[in-house]
Amino acid sequence: MCGIVGYIGQREAYPIILKGLKRLEYRGYDSAGVALIGNNKLNVYKKKGKVAELEEYAVGKDVHANIGIGHTRWATHGEPSDRNAHPHISNNGAFALIHNGIIENYVLIKQELVKKGYTFKSDTDSEVLLNFIEDIKKNNNCTLEEALRIALKRVVGAYCILLIDVNDPTTIIAARKGSPLVIGIGKNEHFLASDASPIIEYTKEVVYVNDYEIAIVKSDELILKNLGNEKQTPYITKLDMDLAEIEKGGYEHFMLKEINEQPDSIYDCLRGRLLLHDGKIVMSGIEQNIEILKNAPRIIIVACGTSWHAGLIAEYVFEELCRTPVEVEYASEFRYRNPVIHKGDVIIAISQSGETADTLVALESAKEKGAFIFGVVNAVGSSIARLSHAGAYTHAGPEIGVASTKAFTGQLTVLIMMALKIGYAKATITHERYIQLMKDLESVPEKVKEILKDTTNIQHIANKYKDASDFLFLGRGYNFPIALEGALKLKEISYIHAEGYPAAEMKHGPIALVEEKLPVLFVATKDSYYQKIVSNVQEIKARKGKVIAVATADDNVIPNMANDVMFVPDADEIIAPLLSVIPLQLLSYYVGIAKGYDVDKPRNLAKSVTVE
Ligand code: F6R
Repeated sequence: MCGIVGYIGQREAYPIILKGLKRLEYRGYDSAGVALIGNNKLNVYKKKGKVAELEEYAVGKDVHANIGIGHTRWATHGEPSDRNAHPHISNNGAFALIHNGIIENYVLIKQELVKKGYTFKSDTDSEVLLNFIEDIKKNNNCTLEEALRIALKRVVGAYCILLIDVNDPTTIIAARKGSPLVIGIGKNEHFLASDASPIIEYTKEVVYVNDYEIAIVKSDELILKNLGNEKQTPYITKLDMDLAEIEKGGYEHFMLKEINEQPDSIYDCLRGRLLLHDGKIVMSGIEQNIEILKNAPRIIIVACGTSWHAGLIAEYVFEELCRTPVEVEYASEFRYRNPVIHKGDVIIAISQSGETADTLVALESAKEKGAFIFGVVNAVGSSIARLSHAGAYTHAGPEIGVASTKAFTGQLTVLIMMALKIGYAKATITHERYIQLMKDLESVPEKVKEILKDTTNIQHIANKYKDASDFLFLGRGYNFPIALEGALKLKEISYIHAEGYPAAEMKHGPIALVEEKLPVLFVATKDSYYQKIVSNVQEIKARKGKVIAVATADDNVIPNMANDVMFVPDADEIIAPLLSVIPLQLLSYYVGIAKGYDVDKPRNLAKSVTVE
């Protein structure tokens, strides 16, 4: 939620910040703004809407500066508007601040400040924090850095902030707790951002700032301190991504690019790990902790949204292959119900961004209770990756489209490999089954390629059903979570109300919705539930519902019953979700396009949900 960028050095700051904001727009696009210090003047420009609107607004204005900060907002406190856009300016006119996160006790602080005569131009918690810092500085006659430190000890909540002072154009002060911050180290210049994508074209050397750290950033110096004012040694990491990975590469949308990247991203995830010739799966995070993972009395999977759907499939896979009981938890619920965690329990955290606040907070509290945390994360170096005791990256590359696609199939690939490796070590699967599933997994990239080769049929189906007001997605077994995922994708991209359900559960309620206008999408590939799902299709047909099916290529039963069919290649039922999800991703994409929506930036959403 919210993207932040900062620059200090010898170059013009504005174009660097603007470009960075465009890269971070996936984090929020309710408003955008910049604060620049040039010729001893603080210039702040901000606008409701996307970064392009800020860019247009700033044309002809004074943007000359070698230091600046910029923000793209996902609204929490205060509606999306010009006045609630960041940066905010302090009452004395000297300081500008941008903030990603939430200050939970801002109302109390605001009341204190109002009594002292402070006025506020916005409804945001961020402006309160800024004036609180100004007030502390005035009362204690201290430096801005000291005032910030005192303020941060009093605030409750999450933040990544960048702060500048018109009277000191040589410094950006930054701080983080709960919201990410990366600092890129250049030659006589520094870049600050919520993730590495705005930095990558300038430098590959970065420092990931930790919670409760304050950074004092000058063009030629980076000082890190903790809230106790003790210096910390910055740990420099080399970025392992290149610019091409975060650009559209000829596709009209990131979402379509990322859907089409899946043969490669799944292959990258398998590469070096799935060694079929040797009959081995190499995953160091598992090997180093095999006893903990083998002997876990229980696995608890914690995640949100699409990642939670990957977790649901993993529940089926782990229970089948490892015979370990698995629970799958929404991170936001898990955290607040004081969960019971026993000695030896393993928590698997699944997250694309590695920054989702609900997941992060849930893990922190589980870690305090002694659980072993295994992270399945896409964003390298992210907070969840760093908090985990061990983990396996999904290697899907940067995912920019707000709807998760290739990260999901990366998560599934990692989770299946994990279950295979642990199950084999526990001897809960036979050698033959182990090898057969490895073979099936190895063939997935080619099979995904086959689905993506010709999408005209899916486009046709999308156009046919785009005006439906509701959709029902049904599946059984391994395909039930795929039905949930298909419904989520359609909701977020096309704003059509869609519900996912276990196909057999339908007769206990949702069947009342069925009538001739309702499209019912069955994920009905050939698996051990196949005969049962054929009966469920009959039940819908008998009530005149329109049946769309995802079916196995050689099936000749379901296609004769369904109004429309999307085919996927045959695969073992454990592997099948990696294939059956692809037509659903494409269907939601093409429905969104047919309805004229911005599929990369669906309304009200943001890619990285860093608020609880
Ligand atoms: C849906 C989607 C979200 C995320 C969820 C968790 O397409 O992208 O539901 O899956 O916000 O995000 P991560 O995986 O970053 O923790």
